[in-house]
Amino acid sequence: MRIYSRILGTGSYLPENRLTNADLADQLAQQGVETSDDWIVERTGIRARHFAADSQGCSDLATEAARKALAAAGISADELDLIIVGTSTPDMVFPSVATMVQHKLGTAGCPAFDVQAVCSGFIYALTIADSMIQSGSAKRALVIGSEVFSRILDFKDRTTCVLFGDGAGAVVLEAADQPGILATDLHADGKYKDILCVPGHVNRGGILGDPVLKMDGQAVFKLAVGVLEETARASLAKANLTDADIDWLIPHQANIRIMQSTAKKLKMSADKVVVTVDQHGNTSAASIPLALDTAVRDGRIQRGQTLMLEGVGGGFTWGSVLLRY
Ligand code: ACO
Repeated sequence: MRIYSRILGTGSYLPENRLTNADLADQLAQQGVETSDDWIVERTGIRARHFAADSQGCSDLATEAARKALAAAGISADELDLIIVGTSTPDMVFPSVATMVQHKLGTAGCPAFDVQAVCSGFIYALTIADSMIQSGSAKRALVIGSEVFSRILDFKDRTTCVLFGDGAGAVVLEAADQPGILATDLHADGKYKDILCVPGHVNRGGILGDPVLKMDGQAVFKLAVGVLEETARASLAKANLTDADIDWLIPHQANIRIMQSTAKKLKMSADKVVVTVDQHGNTSAASIPLALDTAVRDGRIQRGQTLMLEGVGGGFTWGSVLLRY
């Protein structure tokens, strides 16, 4: 009999410091960088984002989200046998955020590791956890997406610094004899490295290269729209379902125009798309679990519904997870 992974509970966390576009525009103006609420809303749909306090690292945000997901699942951290964190903004080069979260949750022993696939990080992490549950090597997995992108933004570059925010989202998965995750689909193509990257790295005690985010927005936009449709269709085909079977589309929250265009290609009405980019900005690997938890907690997503989660990000990486909630 096939083993499925079922979502037992979800959780998320946003840092207290919330900046509207107007707040951010005021701060940037003090450094001679010009932007406006109108420009940001019209081009991206973003109205506000949260930034972590200086004292908060990626693992702190991840642990808060994890605690909420564990409470919603009704299990303790000691009952987990796998922890995976999707992140590109870890507290340190090593050890991993996942091992820090494990310790902060007051547990030890189970495998814990990070997955680095930028904005597709949560989709990659969820797919790995699903595979490990299907293979019988794990029964209860904590999967987190957590980011502090505010640490890698160039606040002199208005074309990127207005787009991102910090946050974390988490799910607890459990092995079940009923779906659960129906299909997954992952891809990558390294030739797109330069259109979205943070080229700096630690080298002999210093930073070599520029340690801030660089992006060719139009190239990213074009690529994202195409691959998001392809990967959604691939997961649907694997599960023998069609776009009409999707109750909720929960895409990576980068830009409202990318999300609307994906929904249109999948013949879905806009009210079936979970949108949080307006309030969170782009939180990279955290954006999908943050959106999922938001719609679970406000009652839009109900047990038994079919959800399409899909992401695309630096690498380039992309993929989708189709599941029955
Ligand atoms: N405020 C005011 N003006 C700005 C700003 C800003 N924050 N940023 C750029 N502009 C100006 C530019 O200087 C330019 O001015 P010019 O015409 O005088 O030269 C003008 O606005 C248009 O700039 P473009 O870069 O052509 O604007 P575009 O319509 O392409 O929008 C954007 C830029 C929003 C980044 C868009 O390309 C996009 O959404 N791309 C997708 C990228 C994305 O979402 N990335 C997220 C990370 S990747 C991921 O998560 C998958």
